[in-house]
Amino acid sequence: MTEHLRVEQRGEAGEARLDPAGPEAGPYVRIFSGVKPTGHLTLGNYLGAVRRWAEVDQYRADALFCVVDLHALTVEHDPARVRRLSRQAATLLLAAGLDPGRCTVFVQSHVDEHARLSYLMECVAADGEMRRMIQYKEKSTREAARGGSVRLSLLTYPALMAADILAYGTHEVPVGDDQAQHVELTRDLARRFNQRYGAVFTVPRAVVPAVAARVMDLQDPAAKMGKSHAETSGIVYLLDEPDVVRKKVMRAVTDSGSEVTYDRVEQPGVANLLDLLAACTGGEPAELAGGYASYGALKRDVADAVVELLRPVRERHAALCAEPERVDAVLREGAARAGAMARPRVDAAYAAVGLLPPA
Ligand code: TYM
Repeated sequence: MTEHLRVEQRGEAGEARLDPAGPEAGPYVRIFSGVKPTGHLTLGNYLGAVRRWAEVDQYRADALFCVVDLHALTVEHDPARVRRLSRQAATLLLAAGLDPGRCTVFVQSHVDEHARLSYLMECVAADGEMRRMIQYKEKSTREAARGGSVRLSLLTYPALMAADILAYGTHEVPVGDDQAQHVELTRDLARRFNQRYGAVFTVPRAVVPAVAARVMDLQDPAAKMGKSHAETSGIVYLLDEPDVVRKKVMRAVTDSGSEVTYDRVEQPGVANLLDLLAACTGGEPAELAGGYASYGALKRDVADAVVELLRPVRERHAALCAEPERVDAVLREGAARAGAMARPRVDAAYAAVGLLPPA
């Protein structure tokens, strides 16, 4: 099946077809997903998204994975840091196992179609639905409380994200739980566009993992483990040294009481550790709980499991850092391939809304 998809993936005719989801298209599946270089990638990014891309998605579909650098400009940013983090994220995607022979890995700003289509999405979206996005509400409320304001691009961010996805005729968007609302909005925009201007876009769906869809901060189990948080002691980064990982896990906030049970409401700290263990070892969190008489023993096993999970990624990352030209070549080829995939659909969208094609 993978071979069949790969043929379809690279075929010229496949690229030109605007809606590969038609009955004639058979089992063709296109996947798009991305990471934003606003911080070092975390265990949350890995378990919620990247690991699945590498272990499953690239083998079962025609998949594109993107370092979405334009999204990193929606918040206060240091240009040199964004540049550094973009390269690091791309290198980590390859270190995690993405194979450029099987999938397309690229940087968003290298493909103009994203920004081109984003403007049309802004013309289809309503102000109110953008303001309802949880991430916008949270960040803008926090800034307002400090007397500051947020960038306009933070509000329009979901239009760019919709463009990222829709430009490729994407069927599935493998993401963690926090991105599901943005994908839901993308679906609405695709349907609305198609209704108003003709069937240009495939309506995509979010695919969220069964375990570790929302890895929580080890110091604050009520908050998502997020790469741009200022307080880092509860965040495991993919490039943390093993003893740092161990320390962070051993110091994780647990709950009052001493019994190990899987209860996300009453025992969110312990539940988070059990989720991590399950994600690393493949078990069921509730069943794993039965094997522990103390929090300490659970933490030790989680620390070991996370260290072992990340070891090969760190090692491959170090090796790839010694060959920067290899990463450059992957990104160059990826952008060329992605641009060729997106252009016909974005051109069709421009024509559909009434923009005069260039003579
Ligand atoms: P970003 O960069 O915040 O996160 C990248 C991916 O990691 C997942 N994730 C998590 N999963 C589980 N637990 C966590 N604590 C955790 N933290 C992050 C995210 O759900 C995501 O799948 N807006 C997106 C980037 C984006 C995108 C796209 C994604 C832009 N355009 C198009 C898919 C398709 C974001 O900020 O992800």
